[in-house]
Amino acid sequence: MTDISFRKTVVERFGGPEVLRTVRATLPAPPPGHARVKVLAAGVGMTDLMARSGDYLLQRRTPFTPGYELAGEIVDVTPDPAAPAPAGVRPGARVAAAMTRMGGYAEYVVLPLWQLVPLPDGMDPHVAAAVPLDQLTAVSLLDTHGRLRRGDTVLIQGANGGVGRAVGALGAARGLRMYGTASAPDAREALARNGVELIDYRREDFEAVLGEREPGGVQAVFDHLGGDALRKGYRVLAPGGVLVSYAASGRPGHMVGDTLRAAARLTLLRLRPGRRTALAMVPREIRADHDRYRSALAGLLAGAHAGGTAPRITAAPLAEAPSVHEALAHRTLAGKAVLTNGG
Ligand SMILES: NC(=O)c1ccc[n+]([C@@H]2O[C@H](COP(=O)([O-])OP(=O)(O)OC[C@H]3O[C@@H](n4cnc5c(N)ncnc54)[C@H](OP(=O)(O)O)[C@@H]3O)[C@@H](O)[C@H]2O)c1
Repeated sequence: MTDISFRKTVVERFGGPEVLRTVRATLPAPPPGHARVKVLAAGVGMTDLMARSGDYLLQRRTPFTPGYELAGEIVDVTPDPAAPAPAGVRPGARVAAAMTRMGGYAEYVVLPLWQLVPLPDGMDPHVAAAVPLDQLTAVSLLDTHGRLRRGDTVLIQGANGGVGRAVGALGAARGLRMYGTASAPDAREALARNGVELIDYRREDFEAVLGEREPGGVQAVFDHLGGDALRKGYRVLAPGGVLVSYAASGRPGHMVGDTLRAAARLTLLRLRPGRRTALAMVPREIRADHDRYRSALAGLLAGAHAGGTAPRITAAPLAEAPSVHEALAHRTLAGKAVLTNGG
């Protein structure tokens, strides 16, 4: 196997979108149990922006390449005699992956074979790249931590964001009753597509709205805000309900400290009887159970390819990562952004 010369986007110091730089690098043959993958598209999430600006607890060092998810084509594989490759994971196959460490904004990556999940035949890799992180997070919230049943009522904070939209789409398929906080002018219509009832957080207090409409409480609250929203979210739960925290992004610039404070607050709430709290950390959950990750992602890709849960995407070339970050920060992007490398 010969070395591959390729381009990738690198954050050399924390800062605004302008710190995203394209550099050349060389990819040697993969180690045993790994593949080299030509990236066709890489998903862009709010986590990438937080990491770029130094606000993400799991990415505290530079330099690094952002991006937690991708779809691509396997170039070559170095087998591991002790761990056979999963079915369909071979050179030439199109695959998707959620990564456990950032690095997707690149023309090529090296990933362990267990992490590569074959795309359904004919699936658009741009759509596939938009599925892993948001939809696996939604599965973690709804199923792993929420343990919800058809007809249960939930509150989705940030329901018009990347993860929030995925929770709405998958929640609709599970027959949930859903409320969602959002602010954008088109949010009501966007949320209504999945049957999610809007609570406009700029004008309404979600605790007051739910107190009136759901006096018995809701079965789950999915929170990415941290701070006071956690305490209020806990208060709107029905007996036996669960507050699932998956970020603390309410105050840009304070997210590392706020994430630690949110974890402490959850621990305190956990001591109270009658309701549950949970902390969802998808990269850790993926590392902990490879088989579960593979079957969940295969199911999500199949669902998105069939149409019902496909995210709406906006595609741009990898070199445009800075302007995509800028647009995502100003919420001027329609749907989920993916960075493309052709194909
Ligand atoms: N734990 C994990 O494993 C995991 C996995 C994936 C993502 N995350 C984290 O989850 C967070 C969300 O990610 P994302 O990609 O979905 O971000 P996103 O697309 O930016 O969505 C965030 C949403 O939050 C909403 N929002 C802002 N202020 C709000 C408030 N006061 N009340 C209610 N909603 C508010 C915004 O709504 P409007 O636009 O309507 O104003 C926005 O749509 C990030 O912090 C990310 O790092 C964690």
